[in-house]
Amino acid sequence: MKIAIAASECAPFAKTGGLADVIGALPKALAEIGCEVKVFLPRYSIIDENRHSLHYESQIGEIPIRVAGVVRSVHILRSTLPQSDVDVFFVDCPHYFYRRYIYTMDPDEDERYILFCKAVIETMQYMKWVPDVIQCNDWQTGLIPVFIKENYNWDRMFDKTATVMSIHNIAYQGRFPESTLDKAELRRKEYYPGGPYEFYNTFSFLKTGIIYSEVINTVSETYAREILTPQFGEGMEKVLWPRQNDLHGVINGIDYHIWDPETDPHIPFHYNEDKLDQKIKNKELLLKNTTIPFKPNVPLIGIVSRLVTQKGFDLIADVLSDLVLLDVQWVLLGSGEDRFENLFRTIGQAIPHKFWSYIGFSNELAHLIEAGADMFLMPSHYEPCGLNQMYSLRYGTVPIVRKTGGLADTVLDWHEFNDQFIGNGFSFNESSGYALFTTVKRALDTFKDKETWRKIQINGMKKDFSWTSSAKKYRLLYEEAYAKRNKNK
Ligand code: ADP
Ligand code: GLC
Repeated sequence: MKIAIAASECAPFAKTGGLADVIGALPKALAEIGCEVKVFLPRYSIIDENRHSLHYESQIGEIPIRVAGVVRSVHILRSTLPQSDVDVFFVDCPHYFYRRYIYTMDPDEDERYILFCKAVIETMQYMKWVPDVIQCNDWQTGLIPVFIKENYNWDRMFDKTATVMSIHNIAYQGRFPESTLDKAELRRKEYYPGGPYEFYNTFSFLKTGIIYSEVINTVSETYAREILTPQFGEGMEKVLWPRQNDLHGVINGIDYHIWDPETDPHIPFHYNEDKLDQKIKNKELLLKNTTIPFKPNVPLIGIVSRLVTQKGFDLIADVLSDLVLLDVQWVLLGSGEDRFENLFRTIGQAIPHKFWSYIGFSNELAHLIEAGADMFLMPSHYEPCGLNQMYSLRYGTVPIVRKTGGLADTVLDWHEFNDQFIGNGFSFNESSGYALFTTVKRALDTFKDKETWRKIQINGMKKDFSWTSSAKKYRLLYEEAYAKRNKNK
């Protein structure tokens, strides 16, 4: 099958979160099972052209693309995903993508991704490459399905091409005023309450993507069920209800080329289940660069996260005065909302011997924390999939999570699954500081029993999270989408 994958992030080129990890890995796994895959990404100015060997695609010259009534000049650069020959095409349009950050609050944020969606389609036209399926990821690519079916349906080359809308986080819906329809050259006539373009008095890229795609998926089975409820659906549940038969959950995998404690270039001491004693050397080294003294028997909890409401840090704030009394150390890496950045900076200043944080983005430190910490905390209110808990399991760093979305699908509570000897972490249901606190305590108590702790670590390390089985499930989704698109032809 020929698969085009369009996204706004892809590791190692441009990353703010897990979406980048997925787009950097899934295409390789699909290629390994025989798919022909091409990835499409905006060429942000933050992408290091030399490091990633981007070069102009000589087959394609200038592509003129009209957005908001103005024709912009687009060029295409090309590279490949590391350790593969999967092509990545970069949509180069300095007017829209040469900015300080990947995502902006600029008034033309809608135009940036209208241009991207059009450019993906037009690049395929220039290449005369007809995909069987275009997989769109999150709202930034949500207009591709409608463009294929409306704006570009004059081009018969896409007659058979199906689209899959992959939702990595339903809270990000790409909502803009009605006037965005004009910028995208979509018909205002379809903008009425309950119509395909209207979503609570706004125009939503994500809703449009859901409506116009043959198949919809999200990144875990539990989240696929959750987003059908008002509690998790963020209003989009009503759009999904009529599409339940087309909605699937496929858990993300992890890229073992990048996240494997046996080979990880970012960690100095490599290890696996049989050489677990090496792990603590990474802890010692990690702590050397912090204000926290190395104490082998005091557990270290790691956190690596975007510091946003979704991730449940308010629960930590609620029980902070109790948490700081526990005999445990904390290392945190993250950036995001001011209130959380300030909270963690303040704790670090108050108890530097117990709590250290680095507010910012550091890939290298993220790897070192995964390897050096004893436990990893993710108290998310909701979590579509979550990758860090899977990295933690692989690194023998026992996850403590709230039982939601992909966290519920990957972390099995040690006490709950004790009998079956498959427990690999600790989890709690209730979104409360109390539940978080008691679960951290349960983990700390268990940590004292070295033999049990080792079993929990090994249960996690042995679990297979490779992309291969998820890639096969994606292939089934593509086949389903293709069949739906072509059923009456
Ligand atoms: P989300 O996509 O919601 O942010 P995930 O758990 O799926 O959550 O993925 C987060 C990814 O981003 C992981 O690869 C994690 O290591 C990385 N990450 C998050 N914050 C930082 C940071 N401050 N520095 C480095 N990597 C980070
Ligand atoms: C989103 C979700 C996260 C998921 C990632 C990749 O950022 O918040 O849970 O792992 O996408 O699918």
